[in-house]
Amino acid sequence: MGSKDSDLSALSAIIRSRRSIKPNLMDPDKPVDPMLLDTLLENANWAPTHGLTEPWRFTVFTGPARSKLAGFLQGLYQVLTPAHAFKQEKHDKLGRNPLLAPVVLAICMQRGTQSKIPMLEEVEAVACAVQNLHLSASAAGLGGFWSSPPILSSPEMKAFLGLQEEDTCLGLFYLGWPKEGVSIPESRRSPMKEKVRWF
Ligand SMILES: Cc1cc2nc3c(=O)[nH]c(=O)nc-3n(C[C@H](O)[C@H](O)[C@H](O)COP(=O)(O)O)c2cc1C
Repeated sequence: MGSKDSDLSALSAIIRSRRSIKPNLMDPDKPVDPMLLDTLLENANWAPTHGLTEPWRFTVFTGPARSKLAGFLQGLYQVLTPAHAFKQEKHDKLGRNPLLAPVVLAICMQRGTQSKIPMLEEVEAVACAVQNLHLSASAAGLGGFWSSPPILSSPEMKAFLGLQEEDTCLGLFYLGWPKEGVSIPESRRSPMKEKVRWF
């Protein structure tokens, strides 16, 4: 097998074994080495980007900053959710999850005011960056999980993250080592041939 074939095999294995690992399966006490996190972020930075706008922005929460995030998310949920829709379990989870993962990243799209690139393409570029990050995390044995509760797109969340009005928070990315002995969740996809048409 040539080296290009083995590169493809290795990449295919990483892509197909990447799973969403929720924070409750992560070890909150096992830190992620900042150098490793740096490598993951550097890989995110190599995502494709129309017009080289590089719209991805990440805010990193580690250590006690996660408690601040957790408290803010719970308060935000309380303020933004009408009484009839309020779910105690959701409120609790927003406070719990950031403390279960050693690293939480806010996934943001910086729009800029001069951009000729359609907004959707900027969101797509950020999603490519997150996929680079998630695949790199998987390759390192780390678990990752993209969570996107609706409260994140609120003006209050933007203010918390120091974003401009035209920017968007697209989610939180939880990152951490899977706890010893946990079984990695299974996932499934319907056959690709149902999603491709050939002419
Ligand atoms: C943009 C985006 C947002 C997501 N938001 C959530 C979410 O809010 N809650 C959730 O349970 N999973 C969320 N996920 C993760 C999916 O649930 C997960 O990818 C799917 O179940 C397939 O599992 P797998 O990633 O392990 O293959 C999100 C994924 C993406 C790409």
